[in-house]
Amino acid sequence: MKLFPAIVTLHLLGGLFLLVLLCVQAVGHQQAVLQQPPAPISRPLRNALWAVFSLLFIQVALGGWVSTNYAVLACSTFPDCNGSWWPEMNFAQAADIWRPLGLLSDGTTISFAALTAIHYIHRLAAYAVIAAVLLLVYALRKQPALTSQRKWLLGLIALQFATGLSNVVLDWPLLAAVLHTGGAAALVTVMTWALAATRTRSALALQEDHNAPHGARSIAA
Ligand code: HEM
Repeated sequence: MKLFPAIVTLHLLGGLFLLVLLCVQAVGHQQAVLQQPPAPISRPLRNALWAVFSLLFIQVALGGWVSTNYAVLACSTFPDCNGSWWPEMNFAQAADIWRPLGLLSDGTTISFAALTAIHYIHRLAAYAVIAAVLLLVYALRKQPALTSQRKWLLGLIALQFATGLSNVVLDWPLLAAVLHTGGAAALVTVMTWALAATRTRSALALQEDHNAPHGARSIAA
């Protein structure tokens, strides 16, 4: 379909979802081999992990949309966009999903304002995702079970910002583009690792009850 943007973006998301499944398997395997159950965490912290994981996936989809529409050079300055804090943008065209590369679904050519919107939305959303990751890093400071994940998140989010910025100001060098895609995959992997390595206390108690011999369960009840 000649690099149909929605298909290429779905291909990226599908690849990352496979990575998520592999990571869940790897953590589960390690827990089984080491006979080490998931670490208990509070319900709000578990919700925060899921929220950041979901935000990250949305941000990856927005990034894939920039890349597959070749909108990387639509904003060539940072932190503003082509000298303006709010450049001319066409959000309706940017949200036209099912269309061939360079065209709209009605067959007309996509405007530069649409490519600008596609680029700028990813950039603005990145600030929210970076803030959410930093808040999570702060919230994890007293969780010894997630120390490694916390350090990885901090390093990777800095790398992600640096490579995203390099894509813009250095005119899209190949190394920055590859590192930006790899960094996103690594962030998704670390978030999956954090989720697979933990459970809420109530889920662990339920699991323990389920695994206990029948008699023991009735006595506990
Ligand atoms: C949480 C932070 C971020 C995540 C998870 C993220 C993720 C991604 C992903 C997955 C892509 C698609 C790569 C591909 O299809 O190969 C992408 C593309 C892009 N991102 Fe980000 N991004 C983030 C932050 C940023 C920031 C802060 C900037 C700019 C300052 C930026 C600029 C870009 C650009 C210009 C592209 C297009 C690159 C290309 O076409 O090769 N990103 N991003």
